[in-house]
Amino acid sequence: MNPNLNALQPYPFARLKELKKGIVAAAEYTHIALSIGEPKHDTPEFIYQTVSENLHGIGKYPSTKGQPQLAQSIANWIAERFHIKQADINTETQILPVSGTREALFSFAQAVIDNSSPEPLVIMPNPFYQIYEGAALLAGAQPYFLNTTEENNYLPDFDSVAEHVWQRCQLIYICSPGNPTGAVIRESEQHKLIALAEKYDFIIAADECYSEIYADEQQAPVGLLQTAYAMGNTAFKRCVIFQSLSKRSNAPGLRSGFVAGDAEILEKYFQYRTYQGCALPEPTQAASIAAWQDEQHVRKNRDLYREKFSAFVDILGNVCSIVKPEASFYIWLKTPISDTEFAQRLFAEQNITVLPGSFLSRQAHGINPGSNHVRIALVAPLNECKEAAIRIKRFINTLD
Ligand SMILES: Cc1ncc(COP(=O)(O)O)c(C=O)c1O
Repeated sequence: MNPNLNALQPYPFARLKELKKGIVAAAEYTHIALSIGEPKHDTPEFIYQTVSENLHGIGKYPSTKGQPQLAQSIANWIAERFHIKQADINTETQILPVSGTREALFSFAQAVIDNSSPEPLVIMPNPFYQIYEGAALLAGAQPYFLNTTEENNYLPDFDSVAEHVWQRCQLIYICSPGNPTGAVIRESEQHKLIALAEKYDFIIAADECYSEIYADEQQAPVGLLQTAYAMGNTAFKRCVIFQSLSKRSNAPGLRSGFVAGDAEILEKYFQYRTYQGCALPEPTQAASIAAWQDEQHVRKNRDLYREKFSAFVDILGNVCSIVKPEASFYIWLKTPISDTEFAQRLFAEQNITVLPGSFLSRQAHGINPGSNHVRIALVAPLNECKEAAIRIKRFINTLD
C-alpha cells in the first residue's frame, strides 16, 4: 500500500462522532445539527428540471473538457463576476469542469507536485478544509501551516513566511472566503501572494467555493483571477481558482464546479484528468450551464443567509463576542471553555451539534489555532437557527 496513506488524519466528522460517543443528549429538545457544511436551502427547480430533460445524455461517454457551451457559460460568469474582458478568457485552454471542487482540490496536488525535488512543501491555512492536507501528503509533499488567528483577523499572514519556506513551496492553497472563519483575503494581500509566486515559482490554488455567499450585496469578495488581471497578469500565470455550484446554487449532489486560470498548468492538469477519468455526466453539464447563467437564485440564497445571520447574531450578541462573517455560511465562535468540552456539553444539555475548531486544525508554530473555537454552520432553516441561538445563549449563560 502507499505508505503516505498512513499519514492521513481522521476526518473531523469521525472525530466528532467519537467525541459524542456515549453522551445522551437532552431528550426534551429535538436535535439541531450545525456541524456539517451542507447547504440546505432548496435547490432551484430549474436545476432539477434541466437534469431530467437531459437524462438521455447518460447514453454517451462525456468528455473531460465538457461541452463547449459549458466552458462558455463559465467564461461569461467569470468575466462578469471578476471584471475580466471576455476576449481575455480562452474557453479551450483556461477552463476545466470538475466534479465538485473536493476532488479537484485533491487531484490538483497530485498533478502539480514534483516530489523528485528535495522536500516539497504545500502551504495551507490552519484551520483548513482537510482535503488540502491529504492532497499534499498523498502527493509526497509536506504540509506547511499558516495559522489564521484572531490577531491576524483570521487571515493567513504571508509576511510571516520565511524565505527558505517559500523556496521549498511548490503549491499554496488559499481559501477565501475561508472555511471555517468566513474571512476574505483582500486584494492587496492576493497581489502580494501573486508577486511571491512569481519570485519563488510556485502555484496558487484558490479555493473560492464560498465566494457567492457574502453579507454585503455591494461587496462581493475579490477573486484571485480578478486580482491577477487587475495587476496586469492577464494570462493568470501561476493562478488557478476552484469554483463550485454546491454552495452557490444549493446543489451539492450535482457535483459540479470548475477550475480556471493559467493555461500551461491546466494543460497538464487536463492530461492528468483524462487518466483519472472524472468527466461530468451530460445531465450535470446541462444543469450547470443553466446554473452559471442565472444570478437570481444566488441573490435569493444570499438573502436567506443574511436573515439567518442577523437573527442568530442578534440573539447571541449580548452573551458572547460573536461577529458576522464577511462571507460563507459559518460562524467561527470563540468559546469560553475548551472547544471540545463546549461541543460535548452543548450536545448533552441542549441537543445541538457543533464542530470543535481543533478538529479542523493542527498544532503549528506552538499553538492549535482552532482550539477554543467552534464552527457553526447556519444551514438549517431560519426557525431552527433561531431556536439554536436561544439554546446556545442559555447554555453560555450556565457557564458563568
Ligand atoms: C472550503 C471548501 N472547499 C471545497 C469544498 C468542496 O465542495 P464541493 O466539492 O461540493 O465543490 C468544501 C465543501 O464543504 C469546502 O468547505
